[in-house]
Amino acid sequence: MRFDIVTATADDYAAAIPALAQVLRACVMNGAAVGFIPPLDLDQAAAFWRGQGDAVRTGEKQILLAVTQAGDIVGTVTLALAPQVNGTHRAEIAKMLVHPQARRQGIAAALLKRAEELARAQARRLLVLDTRVGDDAEWLYTRLGWQSCGIIPDYALNGDGTSHATHVMYRPLPQRPPGLVIAAAHPEDPEATPLIDALSADLLARFGSDGRRGLAGWEDVADRSLFALARLDGKPAGCGALRPFDAEVGEIKRMYALPGSPGVGAAILCFLEEGARRLGYRRLVLETRWANDRAVSFYRRHGYRIIANYGPYEDRPESACLGKIL
Ligand SMILES: CC(C)(COP(=O)(O)OP(=O)(O)OC[C@H]1O[C@@H](n2cnc3c(N)ncnc32)[C@H](O)[C@@H]1OP(=O)(O)O)[C@@H](O)C(=O)NCCC(=O)NCCS
Repeated sequence: MRFDIVTATADDYAAAIPALAQVLRACVMNGAAVGFIPPLDLDQAAAFWRGQGDAVRTGEKQILLAVTQAGDIVGTVTLALAPQVNGTHRAEIAKMLVHPQARRQGIAAALLKRAEELARAQARRLLVLDTRVGDDAEWLYTRLGWQSCGIIPDYALNGDGTSHATHVMYRPLPQRPPGLVIAAAHPEDPEATPLIDALSADLLARFGSDGRRGLAGWEDVADRSLFALARLDGKPAGCGALRPFDAEVGEIKRMYALPGSPGVGAAILCFLEEGARRLGYRRLVLETRWANDRAVSFYRRHGYRIIANYGPYEDRPESACLGKIL
């Protein structure tokens, strides 16, 4: 199914309400836990969306729509900007709904990606949400790199005297420093050489190994690899590489951001992850050193989990291996 993602303007929001009501009702009647207990009729569903009208007009809530080529609305998500004066960097994801007949076609993933872009464009650097434990949505958010805060038991009622737990999740949205451009390059690009040399010298001094082998045999697997070169105000500021580990797993190598360039490493990682998804990888792995605690916490902050040491690192207790499902 081909679809477009659009942000409902205040003007066209009213026109979208009947279709949004259909989607909300279908999801609730199909068992979704999104604030209602079935049965939900179309009038109640439409009343809910009408109730969002003021917040849509002020921009506090921004409602994204997935629209098919025939003009049908088959999915929606709400980006709710935190209204608190100490929350102007934060937003919540709510009413993430895809019509039961339109699922597993990437609609939710596309809606969330657009919601993230919208949030970033408004300087929101943290997204939060909660979702019923065990729902399909947990897979969705985990797959897209959301991080788990934990589970609150007895959070919402089911309507039959029982209740269910909710999973609270968050996603940091690194802000790109102005003037930062990231592009694919060849690792032997003359602009990359000083960065790779600086990284190798740093690793050698701190851990006794320069990691240069990470880019060996590049041409043999170039079509499954990606080298990212970051430029800040036109000057090289960082790099990173993605290489194949196996058909489904990519490996992150040679991540480096010049000291004093905040946000560059995060933007490079994001670029490599997007590239990995495009190349069909399902998972990323990487190795760093336990002693490199800044790197370990950087990757953890970006959704990587500690995994068993793999391949060449199996017998190396000094190696910390991390992985992330894409
Ligand atoms: C959760 C929901 C929005 C997902 O919508 P969707 O359009 O089917 O999701 P996508 O096709 O974009 O899925 C993207 C990825 O999420 C994961 N995912 C989504 N649904 C999944 C499922 N049922 N089982 C396992 N993984 C799933 C998969 O990794 C999927 O990628 P893949 O299909 O390439 O494997 C949809 O099931 C829904 O509307 N549920 C009811 C409402 C709800 O619970 N909303 C969440 C409130 S917090």
